Amino acid sequence: MASVNSLSASIQQRVADALGADPLLRRSDRADFQANGVLGLAKRNKANPRELAAQVVEALPAGDELIAAVEVSGPGFLNITVSDAAITRTLAARAADDRLGVPVKPEPGTTVIDYAQPNVAKEMHVGHLRSSVIGDALVKILEFEGETVIRRHHIGDWGTQFGMLIQYLVEHPHELDHGASEAGEEAGEASMSRLNRLYKASRTVFDSDEEFKTRSRKRVVDLQAGDPETLAMWQRFVDESKIYFNSVYDKLDIEIRDEDVVGESGYNDMLVETCKLLEESGVAVRSNGALCVFFDDVKGKDGEPVPLIVQKADGGFGYAATDLSAIRDRTADLHADTLLYVVDSRQALHFKMVFETAKRAGWLTDEVTALHIPFGTLLGKDGKPYKTRSGETFRLVDLLDEAVERAATVIREKSSELTDEEVADRAKEVGIGAIKYADLSTSLGRDYVFDLDRMVSLNGDTSVYLQYAYARNRSILRKAGDAKPVAHPELPLAPAERALGLLLDEFAETLAGVSETYEPHKLASYLYALASAYTTFFDQCPVLKAETPELRENRLFLCDLTARTLRQGMALLGIRTPERL
Ligand code: ARG
Repeated sequence: MASVNSLSASIQQRVADALGADPLLRRSDRADFQANGVLGLAKRNKANPRELAAQVVEALPAGDELIAAVEVSGPGFLNITVSDAAITRTLAARAADDRLGVPVKPEPGTTVIDYAQPNVAKEMHVGHLRSSVIGDALVKILEFEGETVIRRHHIGDWGTQFGMLIQYLVEHPHELDHGASEAGEEAGEASMSRLNRLYKASRTVFDSDEEFKTRSRKRVVDLQAGDPETLAMWQRFVDESKIYFNSVYDKLDIEIRDEDVVGESGYNDMLVETCKLLEESGVAVRSNGALCVFFDDVKGKDGEPVPLIVQKADGGFGYAATDLSAIRDRTADLHADTLLYVVDSRQALHFKMVFETAKRAGWLTDEVTALHIPFGTLLGKDGKPYKTRSGETFRLVDLLDEAVERAATVIREKSSELTDEEVADRAKEVGIGAIKYADLSTSLGRDYVFDLDRMVSLNGDTSVYLQYAYARNRSILRKAGDAKPVAHPELPLAPAERALGLLLDEFAETLAGVSETYEPHKLASYLYALASAYTTFFDQCPVLKAETPELRENRLFLCDLTARTLRQGMALLGIRTPERL
């Protein structure tokens, strides 16, 4: 399908032709758009800006199909009003396209995105929420634009901590046996409680029994040497954990495909070579036995340089060795031209050092962009990192369950005619949507307060508000009977219709901005603005009771395009839009 030229692109073009230079165009309160560019041009040509602006106005064919009026404002701005017909016609072109006129990138690249990376044999906590939700939205948005996206769930599935666990399992082989009839969520919970129990038990022995400690250390060596029995035991932990992860991701309504789960262990075979290449090229040097990379601008409080440790003095490989090997894999084997890492901001220094090292080693060239997409912490109402009352980190599932419960209360209050089952179904879509939206509508780097009351509120910048706007819209379309949504460019538009129309036309540009800067909150705030404009339209412009059949059709057309835009936009954020609420 053909992409649609937005109103702003058309006007940009028109003004550029009249001006002979590219103007900067933005939306404005005074008119629909404001162009500035006259000032710069006047300066360059030593002309009077207002006079030049007046000349440009002369040259612009106002009152034509596209532009209804142009006015000079201030020292040389142009205030431009689009014609109603152009708005409706542009929207009709969007409506005729499945993709709402959003173009597919002409030259898509390959992006490898590292997100949703929980750790084996450990609980998923609120920290894993943000990486998963943000990463999932970015995947969807980039894929929608035509990018080839390779997902990598870099789970923590390797390391010395497994020695103790494996050794315990060898000595107590039935500890991970399954109950008879576990399924779905229950299976996930059962898996996690087995892992927790095993972890606690092995820890207790490890701390009190020196001989067990020695056997555990020996196990680490066996694991790293690839001893088959040890690997088989390790695999049981990975499989058990995956049952749990999958149950949580199910609840979160995020798809995790098994083939995309390539954890730290996946790069094990490359570690020795990675170190060798770094050492031979002199990028890394031995320092007190450890293989280190130094940076002029990375120093500790004492002023001493803090190196990136690739291999420890005892020969063990660290987190950095794995990440460097993963870069080699993702560039040389997966042919990525963009590498994204959706990881919390506390790991910023790690990624800075890893990227810099990879550049020095020649694994990251100018053709590849590597980007850490850091995100902030979830805070409690007290402004401190979100904890349970007893001060423990919050389990992610408990948080999700609570959100769904709150959503059920809100839905029950609002729609008393729903059956319990309907309430339960919608509560999932509303509760999980609320959590995702609160996360995605916050600009990435910021910490935010996790406040469920606010998140499931019907008023304000919440997913529930957007979902209600969508459902109300759909109910009008259902009630329209034989009246169909049809665009009528010949009809003048009321102010609320124009405002809604201009916003609907911005969908494609909003998405382009999001995929350029990897900031989903720009899409969230666009959708909120759209839902608000729709609410105003709905209050001011009767749809089913419009004065003429044409007006009704045109308003239904606006409703329909709004619904489709909201649904598509929300879907890209990973949020459901129930047809009825
Ligand atoms: N598993 C890590 C954690 O829970 C996150 C992994 C991030 N990705 C990476 N390539 N280092 O903190």
